[in-house]
Amino acid sequence: MRGLSCYIFEKSMPVCDTLIRGARVIDGSGGEPRVADVAVAGDQIIAIGADLDCVAGEVVDGSGMVLAPGFIDVHTHDDTNVIRTPEMLPKLSQGVTTVIVGNCGISAAPVKLKGAPPDPMNLLGDASVFRYPTFAKYVAAIEAARPAVNVAALVGHTALRNNHMDWLDRAATASEIEAMRGQLVEALDRGALGLSTGLAYLSASSATTDEVIALAEPLARAAGLYTTHLRSETATILEAMSEAFRIGRECAVPVVISHLKCAGLDNWGRSGEVLEALDAARGSQPVSCDCYPYAAGSSTLDLRQVDERVEIRITWSESHPEMAGRTLAEIARDLQIGQIEAAKRLRPAGAIYHSISEEDMRRILRHPATMIGSDGLPNDPRPHPRLWGTFPRVLGRYCREEGLLPLREAIHKMTGMPAARFALSGRGLIRDGYHADLVLFDEETIRDTATYADPVSAAEGIAAVWVNGVLSYRDRAPTGERGGRFLPRSSGRQGIEERT
Ligand code: ZN
Ligand code: CU
Repeated sequence: MRGLSCYIFEKSMPVCDTLIRGARVIDGSGGEPRVADVAVAGDQIIAIGADLDCVAGEVVDGSGMVLAPGFIDVHTHDDTNVIRTPEMLPKLSQGVTTVIVGNCGISAAPVKLKGAPPDPMNLLGDASVFRYPTFAKYVAAIEAARPAVNVAALVGHTALRNNHMDWLDRAATASEIEAMRGQLVEALDRGALGLSTGLAYLSASSATTDEVIALAEPLARAAGLYTTHLRSETATILEAMSEAFRIGRECAVPVVISHLKCAGLDNWGRSGEVLEALDAARGSQPVSCDCYPYAAGSSTLDLRQVDERVEIRITWSESHPEMAGRTLAEIARDLQIGQIEAAKRLRPAGAIYHSISEEDMRRILRHPATMIGSDGLPNDPRPHPRLWGTFPRVLGRYCREEGLLPLREAIHKMTGMPAARFALSGRGLIRDGYHADLVLFDEETIRDTATYADPVSAAEGIAAVWVNGVLSYRDRAPTGERGGRFLPRSSGRQGIEERT
């Protein structure tokens, strides 16, 4: 890739499509900001420097603003939404330029349903949206939809189980594992990032550690990775972490613990020991985690998580859609029954559980191994505010207002770090020759506006977002241009810069 500096000495004036002038560039590496111009030609960054001289199709004044690599949302459930709602406003409006789908054991591909999608695959939509029996078909659908953001995908263990097993409440047999492996390998060949599990859910909790190891074994050869919604985020979280690390060691693959938290009132205050266990593992194997910046989780309504001491707000209910937005306590009181009984009547349903301590969440958020992932649920009629608010909330509330971590570190957790961990080469940094995924924002005003009461609300302070060089969002509105692509896993990990 020729840098603009090479052109300077040529006779004619260099040409670029977009020149962003005078922004404070925070390049995603974790390094110090510097004021510079950034030139983009086609889908790439071609030069970074002071007072660049070039004939630009468009000049954007970045003075007083921060220019960062577009954010990578490492934990999403946007699998079918990137195709059905390719504008992807909940993410684009936050400065997100890449989403990683297929988390928590659930993915849209490869999937062949026999009936309704089992819990929690129903978070991705109803049976009609599962149209991708092979990973290749899913990739083709993304390419045809041209979403506004880039998409990289994991394959879900629960999705594979559901393809090959009659009942999910048992361990898979050797021949079922063989069939699942075949599908996983086929997906890896088409660019899948790796395997995700959701061992806490009843649809996967009967899987043994050996089942997961047997399935995850081909990941190493493909340079894939293993992400996991742990078997437990409550009392036995340390055991669940050991299981995840063992899977990583035995399969020789990097491990990402999804939405690391200490859930449930009885586990508040345990983030110290949890992070110690993470650090101990990091000493001998590649291990990291992601986190969303809220003290409440959200998923399907799980009877095991009903606790009268915790506020649980219903986000959707198949049998009682009118209950969305109300708390389980209110509903139970109205019906004059207990909360468990009320939950049984509402299911299948979704909920927000205010079951995390703010202190634990902050400690995990600022830990050097933690990436940022929204875990947003785009199909919920009343979603958890993390869907629209995660990234600006970290930058506004936790960096600017509370000083929890420096801006350049927070941006590294959203860009360079996830690009390295997930093997997305040419992304996540502002460098010559890197893809022009960029976000321009005002660090003084950036803030999330989505709340539990009013969750569908775009962030403030995002001035412009480019995806593969395409200006996609400006002044709180999409431009209508969409530049996203399917991102295959980079083969091998060489050439990918890693800092922490
Ligand atoms: Zn999960
Ligand atoms: Cu999730």
